[in-house]
Amino acid sequence: MGERLASKREGGRRPAGLGGFAVEVHELTRSFGSFLAVDHISFGVAKGEIFGFLGANGAGKTTTIRMLCGLLLPSAGTGSVGGYDIIRDSERVKLNIGYMSQRFSLYEDLTVAENLEFFGGIYGLTRRGIVERRRELLESVGLAGESDKLVGSLPVGFKQRTALSAALLHDPEIVFLDEPTSGVDPVARRSFWLLIYELADRGKTVFVTTHYMDESEYCGRVAIMKLGRIAALENPHRLKERYRAASMQEVFMRIESEKDR
Ligand SMILES: Nc1ncnc2c1ncn2[C@@H]1O[C@H](COP(=O)(O)OP(=O)(O)O)[C@@H](O)[C@H]1O
Ligand SMILES: [Mg+2]
Repeated sequence: MGERLASKREGGRRPAGLGGFAVEVHELTRSFGSFLAVDHISFGVAKGEIFGFLGANGAGKTTTIRMLCGLLLPSAGTGSVGGYDIIRDSERVKLNIGYMSQRFSLYEDLTVAENLEFFGGIYGLTRRGIVERRRELLESVGLAGESDKLVGSLPVGFKQRTALSAALLHDPEIVFLDEPTSGVDPVARRSFWLLIYELADRGKTVFVTTHYMDESEYCGRVAIMKLGRIAALENPHRLKERYRAASMQEVFMRIESEKDR
C-alpha cells in the first residue's frame, strides 16, 4: 500500500492547460465583519488531480471549500467549479460536486443504508437508483456488511467511509473532502487514501483538506494556506527541494514561521 501511495506521489498529476481546470478561482475573498478569512486567493485544479489544501486551524480552508461548493457567497473575486460559476450557478455547482463536510453530517440514529437513502433522495436519485448505487458504493468502501448498523454505533473510520459514500451517491466529477481523516487512526487513514486514489484513477478530481502533513505527500499538488492566503502551491517534492526540507512537516514549519504580513 505504501508503495502505491509513494508511486502516485512521484507521478503527481499536473494541471492541464487553460480550460482543463475542474476548479478555478481568481482573487477569491471572504470576510466576516472586518476579518478577512480568505484573502484574495487564486489557483486552478486540473481535472483528475488530487489537490491538497493544507494549513493550521483557522487558516481559511473550510471557508474556501464552502465557497467552492456554493454554500457561502464570496465577498469578492470569482470562481468556477466543473465549469459552473460559484456565484451565479451555485445550484448547479451543488449538483455536480460531492462534499464531505468537516463534521460528517450523518444521522447517528439511522442505519448506514438509511443515511445513504436519505442523501440519495436529496440528490434526486430514484429509489431503484439508490439501492443499486448504495450496494456498489458500500462494497467499494468495504462496508457491505455494515449496511444495517446504526451509524452512531460505528467506529469513526466507518462513519468516515459512510460519509464518503454519501458524497459519492450521484457520481460527481469533483469531490471536496474537508479534513476527512480527522480523528481517524493511522491504518484507517491510509486505507481512506487508497479510496481517494481510486477516485482519481477514475478521473475524478479530489480537493482535500488536511492538517496531517504526511498526507500532503500523497497529493499531486498542495496549497499551503496561512492567514487566509496561499503561502505556497506546488508539488510536495518540489516544495521540499525549495525549502531544503526532509519532510512536508518541515516545509510547513518554515512557512508558518515566515513573517509575511
Ligand atoms: N461564520 C463565521 N463567522 C465568523 N468567523 C468565521 C466564520 N466562519 C469562519 N470564521 C473564521 O474564519 C477563519 C477561518 O476559518 P476556517 O475557514 O474554518 O478555517 P480552517 O478550516 O482552515 O480551520 C477562522 O478564524 C474562523 O474563526
Ligand atoms: Mg476547517
